[in-house]
Formats: sequence, structure tokens, C-alpha cells
Amino acid sequence: MQQPIGIVAAMRVEMEAILEAAEQVASQEYTSMTFYEGTLSGVPFVAAQCSPGKVNSALCAQVMADFYHPRMILNIGVAGGIGKDVKIGDVVIATACVQYDFDGTAGGNLRLGELEMPPDDRKMREFPCDPEISGKLADAAEQLYGHAHRGMIATGDRFVADPAFGKWLNETFGALACEMEGASTAHACYLNKIPCAVLRTISDNGNDNATVDFPAFARESAHKAQQLLANVIGTL
Ligand code: ADE
Repeated sequence: MQQPIGIVAAMRVEMEAILEAAEQVASQEYTSMTFYEGTLSGVPFVAAQCSPGKVNSALCAQVMADFYHPRMILNIGVAGGIGKDVKIGDVVIATACVQYDFDGTAGGNLRLGELEMPPDDRKMREFPCDPEISGKLADAAEQLYGHAHRGMIATGDRFVADPAFGKWLNETFGALACEMEGASTAHACYLNKIPCAVLRTISDNGNDNATVDFPAFARESAHKAQQLLANVIGTL
């Protein structure tokens, strides 16, 4: 049997949308998270809801790596749109992700968002996403929805509901969207040498309206991501 595609989703609605479309699902618990194995459009997958945040998503990706040996990990979910022309309902596929709240600058030799990484403390700020997988996701999004944004995604342990902060993330890191799991999933994948991709549907614009728009659009956005996944998974 082919190695599964790993799917890390932060929220229950995102996980539910996948499970509704899945076949032959079995589950197993690790690290207090439920890992669902099954097939989606005939393709084996393992998926888990990790709950929001960088640590939760990195732990989830690590459990997948250790116990399921996925051939790739996709982080899917919603995000705040902070790039010019990135609107609610749009799809953003990361070229790379940055942990904007990792701040070692006071130590003198790191830029904001830059980490020292095992095994040799090499400096890294942009956690890469696999260009081939991301390209296929973008092509599928273009076919299905007529558009796809590709670019940097900014990840941090903060729900952004402040237009000035969103603007700062866009200007400082060139980010098109902000969320709370992409870079940490990509970080775990990088260390485990597993290709990854981050696919986000915009649920709000990270501004004063974000806390109102987010719950209203989260379900719709989760279904959009699931529909896209079902379309593309056979080609990954
Ligand atoms: N996920 C969806 N919207 C978000 C926002 N505004 N900030 C952080 N994560 C999000």
C-alpha cells in the first residue's frame, strides 16, 4: 500500500469536512489527538485535528512522521488575508512560511523570525513548501475557483484582528496571509525531511472585523479546502 498523505488541520470544522468525504475511516489516539486513516478519492491519507497554534501543529506533524510515515504533509485551513487583493473566500498556497513571532534579535545575530536549526544551528527564516505539490494545489484552485494566490504565509501564536499588525506582517515579511500553524508544520516537515504544502482559504482580513468574519466564514472556507483536496489528491 502507498504511504499516506498526511493532513494537519487546526479546527474541528476542517477535520469534519474531510471526514465527510472520506472512505474507510479508522482512528487512533496519540498525544491526545485523534489520527484518522482512510482514503479520499481512493488515495490513502492520515489526518488529525491539532487545535490552533504552532506547538500543537508541530507535535501533530511529528506524530504523523513517527507513526504513519506520510509521503507528504499538507497543512490546510483558514487564514486572515493581509496581502493586497487577498479577499475573503480566496485561496492562498504558501511558497514558504515564516514564524513571525520567533524573536531572537536581542541576542544580536538573528533577524526577526529567524531560528537556529538542528543539526548545525544553521539560520533559517523561511520554511519552504514543496514547489511541485504547491503547484498542483494552485493549478487545482485555479481550475475550481478561477484564482489562486501564491506567496509567503506568516505564522504566529496570535489571532490577528488588528489592521496595523496585518499591514506590518505584509510589509515586513511580504506575507499574503496570517495563521497559526503553517510555519510550524513546515518546520517539523523540514526536520523530518518530509515534503509539505500549506493551503489556506481566507476567512477574514485580520482586521477589526476578523472576530466577526472568522466564525461566519470558517465552515464555508473549510468546505472549499476539502473540495479542492478531493479534486487534487489523486494527482499528488
Ligand atoms: N486564521 C484565520 N484567520 C486568522 C487570523 N486573522 N489570525 C490568525 N489566524 C487566523
